[in-house]
Amino acid sequence: LPLSPPDPTNCVTSTVVTPENGTFKIECCPPPPFTDYVIPASNNTQFRIRKAAHLVDDEYIAKYKEAIRRMKALPDDDPRSFKQQAAVHCAYCAGGYKQKGFPDKDIDVHESWLFAPFHRWYLYFFERILGSLIGDPTFALPYWNWDHPNGMRMPSIFTTDTTSPLYDPLRDSRHLAAFMDLNFNFDKEDKPHVNPTIKEINDNLATLHREFLLKTDQTDFFGAPYHAGANPNTSYGSLETVHNTIHMWTGVNPVTNPKSNGENMGILYSAARDPIFYCHHSNVDRIWNIWTTQLPGGPRSNFSDPDYLETSYFFYDENKNYVRVKVKDCLDSTRLGYDYQRADLPWLNAGG
Ligand code: C2O
Repeated sequence: LPLSPPDPTNCVTSTVVTPENGTFKIECCPPPPFTDYVIPASNNTQFRIRKAAHLVDDEYIAKYKEAIRRMKALPDDDPRSFKQQAAVHCAYCAGGYKQKGFPDKDIDVHESWLFAPFHRWYLYFFERILGSLIGDPTFALPYWNWDHPNGMRMPSIFTTDTTSPLYDPLRDSRHLAAFMDLNFNFDKEDKPHVNPTIKEINDNLATLHREFLLKTDQTDFFGAPYHAGANPNTSYGSLETVHNTIHMWTGVNPVTNPKSNGENMGILYSAARDPIFYCHHSNVDRIWNIWTTQLPGGPRSNFSDPDYLETSYFFYDENKNYVRVKVKDCLDSTRLGYDYQRADLPWLNAGG
């Protein structure tokens, strides 16, 4: 058997034994493989405002495209490259990581309380990398405003120009301009069309009302607890369930295209290869903020279990530092230096 590789997290001071000068200690360890992330003080002054994707202006679109273009142009082995960024998502959902101390237990950031905070941190670094690539520390991702009737279709910035870095050919071509059905799934027969009926709009709003406003329990909204040594995928919260629908709506339908598995957006391993992923998750993240702070009958709280708060993930930051972040440090998104442009919430009054 070959020697197993050293544990990079456990390098100690080396000892040198010489015939002339006896024994001495020397520090030979490489820098630690990660550092604990320190939220930059500049987050207080360089604020990023995420705007609705269907409302952004030409100047913003040009900037956004250029940032994604530069990210895609980085060498594949650069951790800031689009390819590596997309792979981060794959590693955290397709058995890429095991739990330290539980070698037969996968880590999956879906279908549990890890869903919201993992994707928040993921977008945070993705956004900062984009900003640094175009030298704009206030650059912010757009959000796909799928909870408003005007945003219930793929934002045109992703679909109309097939030469744009925001375009991805691996999408359901029948859905590119169609009004979205928030009760869609791959098995549901649909007749995509551009102009919705009032009933279709109201059905979507009623779904959002039921899944967001009427869910007042943390587990119902965020997903179930997930502790050390447990199997992943404990249970979906309604935030994730609604989000899954939009993934399926966007990806190639594997039922009608049996050679496909849903790539890109409709299956986890490839979802983040589509630039629209980050815009979609920007809205998921926005709904989290709305749920905790802006709903009638609120405020509704985040989980306070220390096992939740102390959960950590690893990312590369915009300076290629490999950093560890904790859930507890992302619960207030303003500390992370960004917020969302306000939009009407017509689903608040759409019970029925
Ligand atoms: Cu990690 Cu939209 O999923």
